[in-house]
Amino acid sequence: MQDHFKEKSKDWDKGDVQVQGAKIIADAINEKIELTSEMELLDFGVGTGLLGFDIAHRVKKVYGVDTSLSMLEKLKAKNTPELSIETYCQDIIDKPLDRSFDGLVSSMTLHHVEDLKAFFETIYRDISEGGFIAVADLESEDGTFHSDNTGVFHFGFEKDALCKVASEAGFSEVDFQNINTIKKPHRDFGVFLLTAKK
Ligand SMILES: C[S@@+](CC[C@H](N)C(=O)[O-])C[C@H]1O[C@@H](n2cnc3c(N)ncnc32)[C@H](O)[C@@H]1O
Repeated sequence: MQDHFKEKSKDWDKGDVQVQGAKIIADAINEKIELTSEMELLDFGVGTGLLGFDIAHRVKKVYGVDTSLSMLEKLKAKNTPELSIETYCQDIIDKPLDRSFDGLVSSMTLHHVEDLKAFFETIYRDISEGGFIAVADLESEDGTFHSDNTGVFHFGFEKDALCKVASEAGFSEVDFQNINTIKKPHRDFGVFLLTAKK
């Protein structure tokens, strides 16, 4: 498995866009979904845990999957006995986890997933009945968000097309809302939160 985040992992937690962006996503999820202390959630593309640790305060347990060993090493260094995320370094579309979750959260990872249909079908299967998904990523952009588009399969997402894929996988109450604008010197980039129920 190729680690596209080997270099980026070194300074990931020093980036304002990353840190503030994940906080805004965590707050938006908290506002939209009633998180409870009984929930066991999966953070898809957990990275260094910027979203996952924020969510972990509010639920029983967060598990994190990521295909980058170097991002997960940074996460593990932040685990404490009081607050930790259990991690899996694997692509769950190729090799699903052998368990289900009360919900899935994800921040800025979907654009790295080539096959969206396979992704939504996989997570539909791995979420318990009555569970939720809350997936945040970029709205449609012109390919200039990243300076290097290696490993980027989608230049953001268009609302109707993405909601359709989620609905066709079986999800209901599919909602897509703008939650943030990332300002870069050359233009602004919208960030959405897609939520749905199984
Ligand atoms: C832009 S980073 C976001 C990390 C973190 N969620 C955050 O908001 O700080 C994208 C993460 O998704 C991971 N990733 C990419 N493709 C993946 C896949 N198919 N399965 C799991 N993780 C993946 C990358 O390794 C990287 O850590």
